[in-house]
Amino acid sequence: MAILPILTLPDKRLRTKAKAVETVDESIRQLADDMLETMYAASGIGLAATQVDRHIRLVVMDLSEEKNQPLCFINPEITAAEGEQVCEEGCLSVPDIYAKVKRAERVRVKALDKHGKPFEMEADGLLAVCIQHELDHLEGIVFLDRLSPLKKKMALKKLQKQAALSPA
Ligand code: NI
Repeated sequence: MAILPILTLPDKRLRTKAKAVETVDESIRQLADDMLETMYAASGIGLAATQVDRHIRLVVMDLSEEKNQPLCFINPEITAAEGEQVCEEGCLSVPDIYAKVKRAERVRVKALDKHGKPFEMEADGLLAVCIQHELDHLEGIVFLDRLSPLKKKMALKKLQKQAALSPA
């Protein structure tokens, strides 16, 4: 396994639209394992392939306390969404910025697992937020894009300031 570099804003590669995975093979499983290791090392709860500069439709998550319940979604699709919730979000690609984002409360998602087997699941609460956040990455969308223009501007300014302060 390997820890992969995570792209951060304003890197334009985060704006790439991911392509469907055609064959779920050993290289895909290896990437999923590397992404999980990268996510755990960075104390994240979700990571999309886009964030490690691989533009395919693959996301991993683990919302468990013990970090022992990895989830892997390949070619995920939200097939139903309902309700509304507002939750504070952060992102490994947008370091140290947190903001409240409005999302659906419940989603139904279908995907392939790491063996290429189709599955469907329903999620609500934080898991539903995480699924929507990670699937956005595959479209080249980051959570700041979901804020009002003013709030987005403020967050980007803060990000710029941080970048200027931290050594390159
Ligand atoms: Ni993110």
